[in-house]
Amino acid sequence: LPQAPLDRLGRPLHDLRLSVIEACNFRCGYCMPADRVPDDYGYDRAARLSFDEIETLVRGFARLGMHKLRLTGGEPLLRKGLPTLVERLAKIPGIEDLAMTTNASLLARHAQALRDAGLQRLTISLDALDPALFRELSGRRGEIDDVLDGVAAAERAGFGSIKFNCVVQRGVNDHEVERMAEHFRNSGHVLRFIEYMDVGTCNGWDRARVVPSRELHARIHARWPLRALDANYRGEVAQRHAYADGAGEIGFISSVTAPFCGDCQRARVSADGSLYTCLFSGDGQPMRGWLAEGEGAFAARLSEAWSRRTDRYSELRGSARGSRKPVEMFLVGG
Ligand code: GTP
Ligand code: 5AD
Ligand code: SF4
Ligand code: SF4
Repeated sequence: LPQAPLDRLGRPLHDLRLSVIEACNFRCGYCMPADRVPDDYGYDRAARLSFDEIETLVRGFARLGMHKLRLTGGEPLLRKGLPTLVERLAKIPGIEDLAMTTNASLLARHAQALRDAGLQRLTISLDALDPALFRELSGRRGEIDDVLDGVAAAERAGFGSIKFNCVVQRGVNDHEVERMAEHFRNSGHVLRFIEYMDVGTCNGWDRARVVPSRELHARIHARWPLRALDANYRGEVAQRHAYADGAGEIGFISSVTAPFCGDCQRARVSADGSLYTCLFSGDGQPMRGWLAEGEGAFAARLSEAWSRRTDRYSELRGSARGSRKPVEMFLVGG
C-alpha cells in the first residue's frame, strides 16, 4: 500500500476538490465571462469521468490520506444523476467530510435528494442580493429568487450551517457588503468575503478591483464589532470572526493580500480526470489512464505525483506567472 505522501514543501494531501462537470449555467465575469466562454463552448461530455471512474479515483485519494472531499464544477448540479454519485462517494471509508460548492440556482429541486444521499455540507456562491445586480453578475443567466428558494430548500432538507462565498470587486459589488452581512446575521449561516483573484486567462484581472480583507473587516467591524476566532482546522483559508453581539460568524478569504500556500493541502481534479496541484497550475496531469490500471496502481502514481509538488503561486504572484497559461477556474471549481 502506498504511504500517505508529503509534497516537496512537506504538505500532506488532505483535501480533494473534484469537478464533476465543466459546464455552468452562469457566466460570472471573474470566472467564465460570456464573451470568452459562449453557450456553444466546446463542452465534451464524453471526456467526463464516469461514476465508476470517479469512485475509483476517490478511493485512491482516500488511501493516501485525503479525508475532505468537495464536489465542484462548473456548476455541479448540471451533472446528471449527481445524488447517485454522492451516495457512492459517501460510503467510501476515510471520507470524513463531503461538501459541494454550487451557485444554488438549481438547488431547490435537488437539495433533499442530495441530503438523503449523504451530502454533509453546502457552500453557495453569492455575490449580491440586489436582484438587478445579481442578474448582471451572473452574466444575465441567474435570478436571486431561485438562489434564495434553493437556500430555503436546503434548510428544510437539513443542511445546517451553510457557507456563502462572496467575491468582492471594487466598483462592482462592494457597496453590497453591509447589506449582505446584515442579511446573514442571525441566520446560522456563515458569509465569507473573498478577495478577487487573478485566476484563469479570461477574467481581465485588475489589481485595483481587489478589495483587501482588512478594509472589509474595518467596515463591518465599525458597524457590528467583531472578535477574531481560531481556525477550525490547520490550513483553513478563511479568517473567522464572531459578531460580538452574538449574531453569528463571518469570514474573510485573503488569497491576494495574505496568501496561504504554506498550509495548502488541496488537490484539484477536473471533470475529465486531470490533476491540478494548484489553482494556478498550467497543464494538468491526465490521470484517466492511471484509473484504468485500478485503485492500487492509481494511488501509487498519484502518490508519486504529489511527492513532486512544489506549488505556492499566491506567495510568488507576478514573479511566478511567466508565460504559462493558468487553468480556467471553471475547470477546477475554485
Ligand atoms: P471549508 O473550510 O472546508 O468549508 O472550505 P473552504 O473554505 O476551504 O472552500 P471554499 O471552496 O469555500 O473556498 C472558498 C474560496 O477560497 C474559493 O472559492 C477560492 O476563491 C478560495 N480558495 C480556496 N482554496 C484556495 C486555494 O488553495 N488557493 C487559493 N489561492 N484560493 C483558494
Ligand atoms: N477570485 C476569487 N474567487 C473566485 N471564484 C471563482 N473565480 C474567482 C476569482 N477570480 C470562486 C468563487 C466562487 C467559487 C466557485 O470560486 O468563490 O464562489
Ligand atoms: Fe459558474 Fe461558479 Fe464560475 Fe460563476 S463562479 S461562472 S457560478 S462556475
Ligand atoms: Fe494552494 Fe496554489 Fe492556492 Fe497557494 S496558490 S494556496 S499552492 S492552490
